[in-house]
Amino acid sequence: MSTHPAFWRLDGASTTLLVVQDHAVPRLFWCGSKLNEQVEIDTLLVHSDSALAFGGLDGVTPLSLFPQASTAYTGSPALNAHRNGTQFAHNLTTSRVEQKDNSLTIELQDTNAGLNLVLCLTLDADSDVAKLTTTLTNTAQTALTVDWLASATLPMPSPYRECLTQHGRWGLENQTHRRSIAPGRIDISNLHGRTSHEHAPNLVCGTAGFGDDSGDVMFTHLAWSGNFSLRVERLSNGNISVQSGILFLPGECILQPGEQLETPAVVFTRGSGMNQCTQRFHRYIRSSVLPAWTRNLRPIHANSWEALYFDHNVSALQSLIDAAAGVGAERFVLDDGWFRHRRSDNAGLGDWFVDETIYPDGLHPIVEHVRRHGMQFGLWFEPEMINADSDLYRAHPEWVLQIDGVETPLARNQLVLDIARQDVSDYLFERITSLVHEYAIDYIKWDQNRDLVLAGDGSRARAAAQPRALYQLIQRILAVCPSLEIESCASGGARADLAILEHTGRVWASDNIDPIERARIQQGFLRFMPPEIMGAHVGHKSAHLTGRVTSLHTRAIVALQGQFGFELDARRLDPHDVITLQHYTQLYKNNRHWLAQSSYWQVSTFSKALISSGQVDESQDHALFSVVAIGNMHATRPGHLPLKGLDPHKRYSLTLESINVADLAPFNKIIPAWCENQVSTSGELLMKIGVPLPVMPPQSALLIGCHREFNQ
Ligand code: DGJ
Repeated sequence: MSTHPAFWRLDGASTTLLVVQDHAVPRLFWCGSKLNEQVEIDTLLVHSDSALAFGGLDGVTPLSLFPQASTAYTGSPALNAHRNGTQFAHNLTTSRVEQKDNSLTIELQDTNAGLNLVLCLTLDADSDVAKLTTTLTNTAQTALTVDWLASATLPMPSPYRECLTQHGRWGLENQTHRRSIAPGRIDISNLHGRTSHEHAPNLVCGTAGFGDDSGDVMFTHLAWSGNFSLRVERLSNGNISVQSGILFLPGECILQPGEQLETPAVVFTRGSGMNQCTQRFHRYIRSSVLPAWTRNLRPIHANSWEALYFDHNVSALQSLIDAAAGVGAERFVLDDGWFRHRRSDNAGLGDWFVDETIYPDGLHPIVEHVRRHGMQFGLWFEPEMINADSDLYRAHPEWVLQIDGVETPLARNQLVLDIARQDVSDYLFERITSLVHEYAIDYIKWDQNRDLVLAGDGSRARAAAQPRALYQLIQRILAVCPSLEIESCASGGARADLAILEHTGRVWASDNIDPIERARIQQGFLRFMPPEIMGAHVGHKSAHLTGRVTSLHTRAIVALQGQFGFELDARRLDPHDVITLQHYTQLYKNNRHWLAQSSYWQVSTFSKALISSGQVDESQDHALFSVVAIGNMHATRPGHLPLKGLDPHKRYSLTLESINVADLAPFNKIIPAWCENQVSTSGELLMKIGVPLPVMPPQSALLIGCHREFNQ
């Protein structure tokens, strides 16, 4: 390829990407707000950061899209690979660059090392979100061991000084951590074998103090459901980069001659403040990732889990279905406990046959009961798992992921099936599709309740094969059950990433439905994922995971941030609660058509005790903003909440959509007028001055509605 400098340009609605080749491998020269002018290469090179101080290696080149030690790069290389301990050094150079519309294909080769590499960069013009994947081919005659192949190495603007990652545990997902980008490498390594509670594949980097609507920020996400590494590296030369990819177990990735490794995609966007990047991600995910059914009105779920756990019986379920229908449920989901031997979490996983001792007529009496209410029927599965106490394990102990001579630690008494085996996949395919067809199942809650550790085929590591085998199995099922909806659940939100979402389309964000904790979990989740795919259920008065007692209003307001549903025993609701819940159910039904297309805003509050966020419809005619008091406010006057995303020129009626003024009033000597009577004001004042808040006692919440007045 010619050594003449060249560049390629991808334009989005408000973003431009410029890829320049002035050295052996192209670099991302600009990723940011749209450039107005028609740039030329000579002009661009005026802006090349080519200055270099004395000291250090000679021949240092700017950070490329594929950094290698052969270009005197001393940070983390994009590739660590060798042939039985030799040929670990590579020098890939560009052999081809091709642009087609908004996609760029860059091919690199090292004929001596027997490597061919293809980088595919695409900018989605509508959302301004870019995607990069990398494919490596072993073109030599010997096996190549790949220890690390970055999906992407992205340069971060040099003023970036802070990054934000999300971590947690079971029942406390997506908790935000902010840290400095100091010299050295930050490495978020996930070895949980699934996307995990512990580390989300979400990363925000930005200028110091970046906020909801301030600062220069870059969002990146790795679309992968297994082990990964997210790296932020700051070198002494000032380079800051983000690199991410699959974290292979030792010897896990060996490419035989001619074999290829295609990495998961890295998805990224750069914007002004986090809300802008969040909104772009939501737009992109809606248009380019999610299955089409997510654009249908999202039904209200009623799930049996916290109502009955394993205590299934036909009449209890039928009365639960009646009660759930009475508060507005549109889909009933029969959770864990319906299959053979599953009377507790000790046994049964793998035996995907209806338990005849509990259901002598199969699930027909349940499904018919559900249909009589005009509801859809959903069923829980945990296909990747097996209990040692199961018929399946007794028949096929060899189907389990394990390493000979090392005992695999159990989690929830279960082991993991090697679903990359054809016989295992065939068994699961047959069981799931038979049940889907027999009962015309509308939806599957696809659960996954343990980390993969010591995942092997007896001797060799096999963790990285599992996510891809999972995607294939789901696709195979969907090919014969095309109208089936699938949810990604993994002990709550341990599998929420853009790879699984191509095949699923809804996430159970957490098992924690205590609204006070859930409000924070949801804020983390919604930073990257759109609200309508987030299962969010109203739980019992006393939350099962925390014991915290909260009002029904608070539980419902928090659940309204996602796909609304119930995770409670509706038979035990008193008549007053039924009426209250019916109000929120109706509120969800009235607004869900625009909520699923809305812009999502997180609102910084002046008090740490308040969490606020809202959704504004595309035409800026409607908005719902919630405020949740997670603690006690220090000030005696609560001040204003400036709203976001409204049209400053429109007039709105401002209403308290939550019907809890009577609960708030006793804490207010004087309560703002709008809480009691609908008032009228402008978008400009709502955003600049804000909504005067009432005094909110700890654990209360409120829902603010803004609806455009058309008779202005
Ligand atoms: C974990 C899920 O997150 C719960 O909602 C429930 O389905 C249980 N598994 C059932 O075992």
